Amino acid sequence: MGSRSIIEPFRIKSVEPIRMTTHDERKRFLEQAGYNPFLLRAEHVLIDLLTDSGTGAMSAEQWASIMRGDESYAGARSYYRLLDVVADIFGFRYVLPTHQGRAAERILFSSTCKPGDVVPNNTHFDTTRAHIEHVGARAVDLPIPEGRRPADIHPFKGNMDLDALDALIGEVGADRIPLVMLTVTNNSGGGQPVSMANVRGVRAICDRYRIALYIDACRFAENCWFIREREEGYAQTSPREIARELFSYADGCTMSAKKDGLVNIGGFLACNDEALAKQESRLLILTEGFPTYGGLAGRDLEAMATGLEEVLHEDYLHYRIASTAYLGRHLTEIGVPIVQPPGGHAIYIDAAAMLPHIPARMFPGQALVAELYLEGGIRAVEVGTVMFGSTDPQTGEETTAAMELVRLAIPRRVYTQSHIDYVHEVMGDVFARRERIAGLRMTWQSPPLRHFTARFEPL
Ligand code: F0G
Repeated sequence: MGSRSIIEPFRIKSVEPIRMTTHDERKRFLEQAGYNPFLLRAEHVLIDLLTDSGTGAMSAEQWASIMRGDESYAGARSYYRLLDVVADIFGFRYVLPTHQGRAAERILFSSTCKPGDVVPNNTHFDTTRAHIEHVGARAVDLPIPEGRRPADIHPFKGNMDLDALDALIGEVGADRIPLVMLTVTNNSGGGQPVSMANVRGVRAICDRYRIALYIDACRFAENCWFIREREEGYAQTSPREIARELFSYADGCTMSAKKDGLVNIGGFLACNDEALAKQESRLLILTEGFPTYGGLAGRDLEAMATGLEEVLHEDYLHYRIASTAYLGRHLTEIGVPIVQPPGGHAIYIDAAAMLPHIPARMFPGQALVAELYLEGGIRAVEVGTVMFGSTDPQTGEETTAAMELVRLAIPRRVYTQSHIDYVHEVMGDVFARRERIAGLRMTWQSPPLRHFTARFEPL
């Protein structure tokens, strides 16, 4: 059994055609999009690895849930089902449905943070950082040093640096840190997992200073699988039990169900603090909706509840993590430098190492993204200076990111092994001519979150 192929643990009941374009067409589309993959039309993309967020395929059971959704304005059955599922897996009593993760973030940070506050995280995702900064607080990334070195192998590269957390609290004072966050898996840090020991360590520090701990839970199930595979003592524990333990150390979580909720839209904010939940509900009503539906339809709540159950199935998680590792292994074999070891939802190519002749201020990641599209109609995303850097409006100097990565995010249950084989073949062709790839110049930008709309020109 061990040496056989890991097959997709599903068969396909409904298909959606994808179409190849010519090289000339892609060149024109890319120019029209200002070399920014976010500005391409999806129908001009063959294999879409832009994001694993909201791009997954729902199961037959989830489509059945859609029909079962209760569309009552208040007190819908679907809400109570979601409440039960969240209480069972995450252990939180108060659940505020939101249309996606960032809506939960906005409500959490505007309820808990004030100007001058500081929020540490292993690594903030761009929307969490933006929401913290929006309320005048400071977002601080504290990954372990290995987490910033792409080639280093470490089983839990998503861990938070506990000494750095302790030092930060000592420096700014616990009263200015309303909460500590842990992102599982650490998306901006390469989709790397956080160990249970690290969660416990963060909890112990939070206890010492009486600070709340929140989990950014987008990819919690994938993180739990890594704990099972890599952390001593968990090999026989079910992903569900691992999840229960992990969340038992937290005071609450934000969730984008577009990832490990296996739905195309949805999220929630959860906690055990009644007073805080009441305060947050007032904001929820203002912008998302009545507390028993948030920004969602009853059917969305129902599909999300089913997705949260399904994502913890062992067959699914085994296939999911193995298929990401498969792409990572093949890229490594042809010499492509990637963040090692492969993460849960994506492979991150180290564009700085692959294109050392392109300096960070000429956006090597964005240049590689453009080449992948031109070569084979593959859409990826830069996670480097375009996403995390900034341009000084006075001097025009570019503040560059810690790493220049390109993310190949794998939508859940969407592509088969032959699609993935095609991806590493195209990457092989791009890699073979890497020395002739030129950098880019940014011609237009609009911060914050400039990567969504920035435009570029080849140099
Ligand atoms: N936290 C993390 C770790 C994320 O990866 C994302 C979204 C969010 C929060 C926000 O959730 O999109 O539902 O509002 N990440 C997507 C991505 C967009 O492509 O990685 P959202």
